[in-house]
Amino acid sequence: MAGRTTRWIRAGWRPSRDPAREPVIPPVFVSAIYTHPAMSLEREYPKVGDLKYSRENNPTLLGLEEALAELESADWALAFTSGMAALTAITVSALARGARRIAVMRLTYGSTRSLVDLLRRVSPGIEVEVAGPPWDKLLEAVARCDLAIVESMANPTLRVPPLRDVYRQARESGCMVAVDNTFATPLSHRPLESGASFSIESLTKYISGHNDVVAGSAAGNGREELERLWDVRRLLGTTLQPIEAYMAWRGMKTLEVRFERQSRSAAEVAEWLESHSKVSRVYYPGLPSHPDYNNARRELEGLYGGVVSFELRGGRRAAFKLLSSLKLIEPSPSFGGVESLISYPALASHSNLSEEERRELGITDGLLRLSVGLEDVADIVDDLARALRSV
Ligand SMILES: Cc1ncc(COP(=O)(O)O)c(C=O)c1O
Repeated sequence: MAGRTTRWIRAGWRPSRDPAREPVIPPVFVSAIYTHPAMSLEREYPKVGDLKYSRENNPTLLGLEEALAELESADWALAFTSGMAALTAITVSALARGARRIAVMRLTYGSTRSLVDLLRRVSPGIEVEVAGPPWDKLLEAVARCDLAIVESMANPTLRVPPLRDVYRQARESGCMVAVDNTFATPLSHRPLESGASFSIESLTKYISGHNDVVAGSAAGNGREELERLWDVRRLLGTTLQPIEAYMAWRGMKTLEVRFERQSRSAAEVAEWLESHSKVSRVYYPGLPSHPDYNNARRELEGLYGGVVSFELRGGRRAAFKLLSSLKLIEPSPSFGGVESLISYPALASHSNLSEEERRELGITDGLLRLSVGLEDVADIVDDLARALRSV
């Protein structure tokens, strides 16, 4: 049997090898509608897999989803118009099957917490507990909930929970666990292999990898879960469309080489930053100084990705000075793409937290999040070194 990488690179499209010159790369099916002679009174309609209308299914989408399922070691994967759309569908689907108590990791992507707050405002019967780090608080919250939303590596300090303990606790207490795996990617952690209920990715980041498409996915096991989520996606109208599906699929084929190179470069940059006199702290899970170094070694498969966060001694003034002095690294949100980007979490990804909570979580005024791209690592370090001289 072919290796996992071969399987997800070749999944979703098989040229027929007849002499009629089948394309090696699948066509993009831009049609919004499909003829549907099977539409009849004989059975319930619509069903997962039916091809009639692109808000429900599309052949390009089905190809991407087959490849994603291989990548995630899952029975199935569904692609959405964004990572947030995938998170929304998973949460709505859990509520629809009766979940009322939701535990959310304290250090998640800001919009994930805002989404849960929004759903609580819409449906006041929902209880939300926000917990962890510290990780023992997260485990306690998981023991009390119906749905836990956690991240396998969390922004911006790259914290890594004791994932297998979380999954074990969830199993024991009958709680579903949805893992936002965007920072780790399935190359470093495959939540379904270790006992989580769902794996969610913002495909916008590493998996597409080129900062040119917004997309998301959710993967899981079992036909019933698939049917429920597929129905929610179709009703919310958040099905990924064919051109974006093609772009995400194309990017995904080079994920492994990009992620390995970005992880190597980021480790070099992290070590360099750690020895710089103007930097007071560096967060990279591959560094022994990281608070979750041991969890990262235990839970992830040796690759820690391209994101490095670091704190400047001079606080906000120093951070802004650095941001305006960089020439190669672009000040921009997002991460995981081929271009190196830098962002300021206190005013971007984590601006919805209170100042006190930010301080507790290490999101200080001097903290910057760097996403190391595929440029020569020497050029990235040069850009940082020159900008740091102006701070
Ligand atoms: C960890 C994480 N999850 C989810 C999202 C949302 O993804 P999208 O922007 O594709 O909706 C983001 C976006 O930055 C993220 O960082």
